[in-house]
Formats: sequence, C-alpha cells, structure tokens
Amino acid sequence: MEAKSHTVPKKEPANISQISADESTAAQQRDNARMFDRIAHRYDFLNRLLSLRCDVTWRRRMAECLPSTKNLHILDVATGTADSLLSLVQHCDRIELGVGLDMAERMLRMGQAKLQEGGQCKKLSLVRADGVTMPFEGASFDAVTIAFGIRNFADTIGGLREFHRVLKPGGRLLVLEFSLPTNSFLRRCYLAYFRCVMPVIGRLLSGDAAAYRYLNRSVENFPYGSEFCELIVAVGFADVHAHPLTLGVATIYQGQKEPASDVSQLNTEGDGTD
Ligand SMILES: C[S@@+](CC[C@H](N)C(=O)[O-])C[C@H]1O[C@@H](n2cnc3c(N)ncnc32)[C@H](O)[C@@H]1O
Repeated sequence: MEAKSHTVPKKEPANISQISADESTAAQQRDNARMFDRIAHRYDFLNRLLSLRCDVTWRRRMAECLPSTKNLHILDVATGTADSLLSLVQHCDRIELGVGLDMAERMLRMGQAKLQEGGQCKKLSLVRADGVTMPFEGASFDAVTIAFGIRNFADTIGGLREFHRVLKPGGRLLVLEFSLPTNSFLRRCYLAYFRCVMPVIGRLLSGDAAAYRYLNRSVENFPYGSEFCELIVAVGFADVHAHPLTLGVATIYQGQKEPASDVSQLNTEGDGTD
C-alpha cells in the first residue's frame, strides 16, 4: 500500500544552517566510507534480507521516475555495490550512459565485479569520489539518482547543491531514502523492528554490530517527507514531490533543475534592427 504523494512550496527551511557542513565533515565522511567497506562483502545480501526484498521494488520504482527523454546520461551517487545503477539500466532502456560514484573502495570493487558479470562495462562506469565535490563539469547529467545514500552524507546540503550543479538545466534529481510511517501504530511496530530485530540480524550476519546500530540511528535522525522536500527546494530545485512507498518506510523524492531561460533567443527575436 502506498500513501499519497505531496508537493512542497518554495520556502527556506529554518534549520538549514544546522545541517550544513562544519569542519569535521571530511573526517566524518572518511569514517563512514570505512564503515561501509567493512560490511561490503555482506551488503547486498543483508539489504535484501532486512528489507524483505522491498528494496528491489523501490529501485524499480526509481527507474520509472527517470525523465521520459531518450539517450539519458545518468549519475548514481553513493552507488555502493552498484545495485541501483544496475536496476536503473535494467528497467529503463533510455539510458545511454551511466556513472556510479562512491567514496568506499570495497563497495565499488563489489560493484565493478557486478558490472563485469552483467556485461555492462561499456555503458556503465564507477568513480571513487566524495559526492560533495564531484569530478564532473557542471550541467553534465540528465538525471542524478541516490539510493539510501544522502542520509550518510556528513554535509547533506553540500551534497544536494552538488547534485544541482552537475545536472543539466531541466534535469531531474531522484532520491530514494528510508522514512518512517506516518501512522503512529505502524511507526511503533516499524521502530521496534528497526531498533531490536535489524541490528541483531545485521550483527550476526555481517559481524559488525556498530554498522547496523548506525543504520537505525541514521534513519531515525534524518529528515523525511515534507521536511526533506524543503531541503531540496532550498538548494534550488523546483517541482519537488515526495512519493512514499510501502506504508511510508521508504520515500522517493523528486526535483527538477529549472530549464535555462533562452536569453540569446529572446534577444534576437525581439531585435528588429539590421
Ligand atoms: C547504504 S549505502 C547505499 C548504496 C547503494 N546506493 C544502494 O542502494 O545499495 C550508502 C553508500 O553511500 C556512500 N556514501 C556516503 N557518503 C558519501 C559521500 N559523501 N560521497 C560518496 N558516497 C558516499 C557510502 O560509501 C555507501 O556506499
């Protein structure tokens, strides 16, 4: 069952400065990448198990939200083991070129093996870099996607700004992220699973208790729904929507970079002189 999506008007959120970067973000970010490298060998298996395979459907839903134009050049930030990148290509035949970017080396190595296995190395490539300072020129991609990655950014706003920079005018941002059910009974049940069951399974199967304690804390502390939409609006995206999935335990956020107003055309069209 899926809740109704909602649109958020343009307005500056009050707490934007609290979420913006501070000096310790680079160190935080490196610790975070190391944590994902520690669990890389079990990451895909645990994702399927702990989400009861819902993540497969959520990733397919994200592919369905890609722009309807052909020859898409897409960037999947925080691509990890390239699960989302591969799912996007599998479910959208309009993708001409895809790049996956992540900071965690071992996650990327697992992803590279999957790309090779799937014979996708011509179309898809992986880059190791920080999503807040990406090695791409501005206006390079038709779509930027990020699945379960943005809440791990030490600098959320810095990341969103960078996604905006590398998108072409008219390009689309798609963020798939965990959220919490709005229904209070469901939220209590979900939090019990999240706080008590998930960390135990995660610890037993990955051998890393801290990583799976981090998972539930990071989800509970991260803004979701209209609060997260406000952040996307604040960095300059328009037409921002949230589409809650599976009783609200995950959400796809969508935003558009405004198309460039064609100033040169306006100038020549209005110019009657020889
Ligand atoms: C929960 S995993 C998600 C992986 C993948 N997108 C998926 O759907 O399975 C989060 C990923 O975000 C990456 N990450 C966190 N902060 C990042 C940053 N600032 N730049 C690039 N990658 C980052 C981590 O290294 C990790 O691989």
